[in-house]
Amino acid sequence: MCGIIGYIGNKQAKNIILQGLKKLEYRGYDSAGIAVMDEKKITVLKCKGKIAHLEELLKHRKAPIRTHVGLGHTRWATHGAPSKKNAHPHNDCSGNITVVHNGIIENSADLKKSLKENGCHFKSETDTEVIAHLISRFYKGDFKAAFIKALQKLKGSYALGIISIYEPDKIFVARNDSSLIIGVGEGENLISSDIPAILGHTRQIISLRDKQIAAITRNTIDVFNFQGCRVIPKIENISYDIDTASKGNFKHFMLKEIFEQPQILSGLVTRYVSSSGNIKFDHLKIDKKFFKELSNITIIACGTAYHAGLIGKYAIESLVRIPVTVDFSSEFRYRTPVIKAKTLIITISQSGETADTLAAVREAKKNRVKVLTICNTQGSSLTRESDTTIYTHAGLEIGVASTKAYTAQLMVLYLVALYLGNMKGVISKNNLQKFIAELKNIPLAQKKVLTDYKNIEKLAMKFLHFGAFLYLGRNNNFPTALEGALKLKEISYIPAEGYAAGEMKHGPIALIDEYRGVICIVNQSPVYNKIISNVQEVLARGGKVIAIATAGDFQIQNYVKEIIFIPEIDNIFSPLLTIVPLQVFAYCVAALKGYDMDMPRNLAKSVTVE
Ligand code: M6R
Repeated sequence: MCGIIGYIGNKQAKNIILQGLKKLEYRGYDSAGIAVMDEKKITVLKCKGKIAHLEELLKHRKAPIRTHVGLGHTRWATHGAPSKKNAHPHNDCSGNITVVHNGIIENSADLKKSLKENGCHFKSETDTEVIAHLISRFYKGDFKAAFIKALQKLKGSYALGIISIYEPDKIFVARNDSSLIIGVGEGENLISSDIPAILGHTRQIISLRDKQIAAITRNTIDVFNFQGCRVIPKIENISYDIDTASKGNFKHFMLKEIFEQPQILSGLVTRYVSSSGNIKFDHLKIDKKFFKELSNITIIACGTAYHAGLIGKYAIESLVRIPVTVDFSSEFRYRTPVIKAKTLIITISQSGETADTLAAVREAKKNRVKVLTICNTQGSSLTRESDTTIYTHAGLEIGVASTKAYTAQLMVLYLVALYLGNMKGVISKNNLQKFIAELKNIPLAQKKVLTDYKNIEKLAMKFLHFGAFLYLGRNNNFPTALEGALKLKEISYIPAEGYAAGEMKHGPIALIDEYRGVICIVNQSPVYNKIISNVQEVLARGGKVIAIATAGDFQIQNYVKEIIFIPEIDNIFSPLLTIVPLQVFAYCVAALKGYDMDMPRNLAKSVTVE
């Protein structure tokens, strides 16, 4: 989705903004722009397409721009096609007020109509432009007052960055339902929609809350609520390692992130398992009594996080013996779910800013339920709105296709299942130790899978020409099939469908012929023989199979030639291994096709609008 960066200080704003825009590219965008302010003028440059193009435009300007205040934006089109005129920043008619915006102004059509009737001339089709005109209309010598008046007219979601010649030494910002952070520097301050863009400048941030504004100079940050009353902001330290924002020796972020998984999982076990072998979630803000009496769980998430939730259901139902339902956030928020007093809502999100998941939590909270969030992003909206958070500590995930955040979510879900199972007396201390010992084996086992990279790449080459794929799995690896298919379609644009293998006969078998690539997850499990039968049914119809099987499985070799082996592991934890070759396979297919899998077409890293 759109990205915002802004700078005020004594360095060249345009250079810092360009660097910041490059760090925001991973969010997904179709046009970009920059606005910088000198003595009495705001200069705006924008373009359709990549930031490299914007950089060229800046280089070829006759007069070099030397300024110390500016804004930058990457746009992901919602209102109006991707184009230069619709790219942000947007000005009012006088060119004295310039706005960048993430989110959607829902009443923009009505506002536009009345502003036009009052003589405003619009240059774009965007919802954003109304904001610049509104502020201009309300400006009578007090910029902050005009800004607040304009905000009171807006309906919808927004993170806003604004500069104006009326207050040339300030950046104004506002937030409602869309993330905005202020990077606190020394003699300089930054604003951004997310952390990577400011990471090279400061590690201290203020996460603006909903319905707050701030007026920022190079030395001061004044935060107010929408009534104009001063608010004391909380300054937090970001713990992200700056290296996670660079590719290191890897060709792509996605590949780097796939290879980071063993270390992340090992870190999670160390962090959440005490030396005495108990699970310790030290800072949980829900009391143990509630967990003990818990009768059921509802998991809410989107995309890959939803798939993690599905695997969480298998794990929790088997280890805690309480019912779990899993919902897409976008479905949960618009139906009337039955939420009982002893229900725990678990939300899962890498970014913590996904609009539907946030809305679903707000919906759930109307029933006064407890919400536990499993999240990767420190201080994100979801973590603030939930009762408690367990962090996945996967570091920044830059690749749009989620990989390391997913397996970190799985690891946390397994630990939550063991924690609850033990607390409710379903898992004995002895069994807990055995499960934990098995979880400790996972990082090494993942490393072994990754040593098979070349073999997986060869398979990707062999299967590259297939026009469509079917991914089949059963039981707790049915969600792995969904996730494997999602990875492939997201970054290689090949239609891929994940299915519960037992459902194949009820429809998808009609798709099988010699042109279909079929990936079957056939690891050792109580349903092994069942899925072997499904493999045979595919082969009998000419389908070309790749099997993900357990090392030492000779039976599968009687049927299938193309096999990726994973080390033997307790089946309950196998999704932590079976997904890894599917991530690598998707990566290799996309790389062989020459696609940029870190920034796939049409996708955004963080889906902050509905
Ligand atoms: O930030 P979140 O985990 O809430 O994001 C949810 C989905 O948008 C995300 O998982 C998406 O499906 C990824 N592109 C998957 O690779």
